[in-house]
Amino acid sequence: MLEPSLLDKRILLIIGGGIAAYKCLDLIRRLKERGAVVRCVLTRAGAEFVTPLSVSALSGEKVFQDLFDLTDEAEMGHIQLSRDADLVVVAPATADLIAKMATGRADDLASTVLLATDKRVLMAPAMNVRMWQHPATQRNVAQARQDGVLVVGPNEGAMACNEFGPGRMAEPAEILAAIGAALAGPAQSLAGRRIVVTSGPTHEPIDPVRYIANRSSGKQGHAIAIAARDAGAEVVLVSGPVRLDDPPGVTIVHVETAAEMLDAIKQALPADALVMAAAVADWRVARENAQKTKKQAGSGPKPLELTENPDILATIGTSSQMRPQLVVGFAAETENLIENAAAKLKKKGANWIVANDVSPASGVFGGDRNTVKIVSRDGVDALPTLSKAEVASTLVSRIADFFGDDNRHSGGQAG
Ligand code: C5P
Repeated sequence: MLEPSLLDKRILLIIGGGIAAYKCLDLIRRLKERGAVVRCVLTRAGAEFVTPLSVSALSGEKVFQDLFDLTDEAEMGHIQLSRDADLVVVAPATADLIAKMATGRADDLASTVLLATDKRVLMAPAMNVRMWQHPATQRNVAQARQDGVLVVGPNEGAMACNEFGPGRMAEPAEILAAIGAALAGPAQSLAGRRIVVTSGPTHEPIDPVRYIANRSSGKQGHAIAIAARDAGAEVVLVSGPVRLDDPPGVTIVHVETAAEMLDAIKQALPADALVMAAAVADWRVARENAQKTKKQAGSGPKPLELTENPDILATIGTSSQMRPQLVVGFAAETENLIENAAAKLKKKGANWIVANDVSPASGVFGGDRNTVKIVSRDGVDALPTLSKAEVASTLVSRIADFFGDDNRHSGGQAG
């Protein structure tokens, strides 16, 4: 679904009032390139950021702005406008537009169309980080999701208002992929499959206040859980400590340490597939201090004695009883990517290793994009640089292909 053909698909794009509205011009262009028919509703605030002229020039259609524009009502009423689309896209979805959607208000053309439509709605939220994190917005987003609204983004990053955090509108390419997925409908390619996904770092306590951790954000693992859920799988997401919302529609088990993660996975098995995207700490301290370790006047810090954590992937991947049919590991490497991944494939009994370069220059940790190579005994499949959501949906379609061809893969442990 990375380059969806949208030939003759009718998209009604509602452009809200936010600085991210400028990205909609690029979105319209990309939609048109793929053959879509794009009609736009520009809110009063939206028109402060992009002009009706640029929107209509790019879409090649009249721009709809006013609920009480009699000419439009004569030519096409707001009800027809809302129904004459295959998909309604709200981008940027401002806090105000989301609140209107959640509460069913209809006091302008955009909100009236949203209430009147019988089509799926996809929104791309964009707002200041505090506005996004406000409980009212989070309540409204949850309500909108519950009402069936699809959501893409927001991403985390620097914002026009000089703050940093979640609130940036998804990029046009991501919105385009989400539009393609929404129009295709959920391909239930993993229906009836149970998939365990791990995500995030583990925290290994040193004493009651300190721990060993790593920079994993959990974004990739969570995206895989969401993509597997959207493909119809029953998903158990075992997550280390992350600053991400629990994805709806998956069973989530929160853990802290590698030992807890192993236990939670064992509890979640049997499953058809295990995807180990978590960055499990290799070591923990040999003896956790029951009390906070104090500075000793006159003597330097005591060295930390470490001991190895269980290798969860290897434990499950090489177990004759517990091993799911498909075992996928990740290899975050800063050098010798392919060689190290190929070695891991064997050592850990995985079918595939998803190898990614996490050297500081790559910006993978905490970022929204990822460049991965899927290493299997059949060879190396190098994917282009994609958003983590796109990496997830690509991986999930490979998983679906794997199960679509059970015979070839039965007992398909990597050699
Ligand atoms: O050996 P390395 O840590 O690079 O291997 C990465 C893969 O192994 C990941 O899939 C990770 O989830 C898994 N792993 C694990 N248990 C560990 C360390 C890594 O399952 N203790």
